Amino acid sequence: MSDYILAKQNGRTIPLEDKIFGISSRAKAMIAEKGADKVINATIGSLLDDEGKLVVLSSVVDTMKTLNPVDFADYAPIGGTPQFREAVKKAAFGSFQPSCFTEAVATPGGTGAIRNTISNYSRMGDKILTSDWHWAPYNTIAGELGRCIDTYPMFDENGMFHVNAFGEKVRELIAEQKSLVIILNTPAHNPTGYSLTLEDWSGVLNVLRGEAGKAESIVLLVDAAYIDFAGDEEEYRRFLPELEKLPENILPIIAYSLSKTYTLYGTRCGAMICMAQTAEVAAEFRRVCEFSSRGSWSNSAKLAQVILSKIYADEELLKKVNEERAEYREMLIQRGRAFEEEAQKAGLEIVPFDAGFFASIPCDNPDEISRKLEKEGLFIVPLAKGLRVSVASVSEAACRKIPAMVKKAMAE
Ligand SMILES: Cc1ncc(COP(=O)(O)O)c(C=O)c1O
Repeated sequence: MSDYILAKQNGRTIPLEDKIFGISSRAKAMIAEKGADKVINATIGSLLDDEGKLVVLSSVVDTMKTLNPVDFADYAPIGGTPQFREAVKKAAFGSFQPSCFTEAVATPGGTGAIRNTISNYSRMGDKILTSDWHWAPYNTIAGELGRCIDTYPMFDENGMFHVNAFGEKVRELIAEQKSLVIILNTPAHNPTGYSLTLEDWSGVLNVLRGEAGKAESIVLLVDAAYIDFAGDEEEYRRFLPELEKLPENILPIIAYSLSKTYTLYGTRCGAMICMAQTAEVAAEFRRVCEFSSRGSWSNSAKLAQVILSKIYADEELLKKVNEERAEYREMLIQRGRAFEEEAQKAGLEIVPFDAGFFASIPCDNPDEISRKLEKEGLFIVPLAKGLRVSVASVSEAACRKIPAMVKKAMAE
């Protein structure tokens, strides 16, 4: 019997319950029954303090309190307010000043940028390329649009970014479909915490240059949702100038999100920013992405657009926001290091980790292990290739406990 009553499946498989939501509710139930000190809930994808409360940047909240009703009650233009379009480019590029043609289109979070990129730069039925370890909603977004995700192994046997596997898959898909959308989530990749090195980037871009002559178009979507939590903001933007040195039919697009960087998850704000070699490609980008926005969510919410514009119009305020974030970033990095250190001590293999909200553990039977760990009060997320631990949502002390617990559950 089909799982569908009136709804049409349209090639999608829609689960009865969202996996992460289900695990999180079991964690909450156990907290209610046994007490918070008996449970580690490392499933949540937002930054929480050591007491489990959402981290919210007070400088951002103070800015929000200065707004007038028209700043949030009114519609914003479809592609975003002019001030936001400029501010978000500065937020994404940092001190780098591109000489290529850039256009920014507002989207509801980074998610909207991913959706609009797939809808405009691939065809129905196309395969969208990303690594085997990836954020699961890429599949949902692609599926909703009548596309699907194809993958390459992210790491080679030495734990290095597998540029050869990437190249092989790019060549295969260009030969098959002539155009290709690639999603690279870096720095501080979800779910592994890996950041591409400049050497990795050079390998990736060489592959694309090598294929440009055979391809109609290659779009490289850099999902930079965690760029401001990877480490020094400038250091982790050093790959950006490399994206300018590409042929005309290769279009880099940055998916930038205000969710984590400004702790504005619920205001649904982000942008897609193109780095085009010609003015025509940039103008087309703006036209087609605004058209898609109109046909999906219409305009994006104005609130966070105004907040970002105000932050970037006031140097002192920008400094304050960046300094406040840097403190929390340091807390997050410490947690990640603690997790890594304890994993090493416990002899637990983890996927190469650099920084960010998540770390992952390779595992052949992730569902079984996570069920076992739930009984011990540890809640983590089973993925296709392993277990995902959110270091963003638990204290450093908890990060130190998790590796030994996982190692024990795997050994039993
Ligand atoms: C890898 C990745 N990309 C993009 C996003 C987009 O988030 P949002 O739509 O809230 O900006 C997230 C959020 O969790 C993410 O983990």
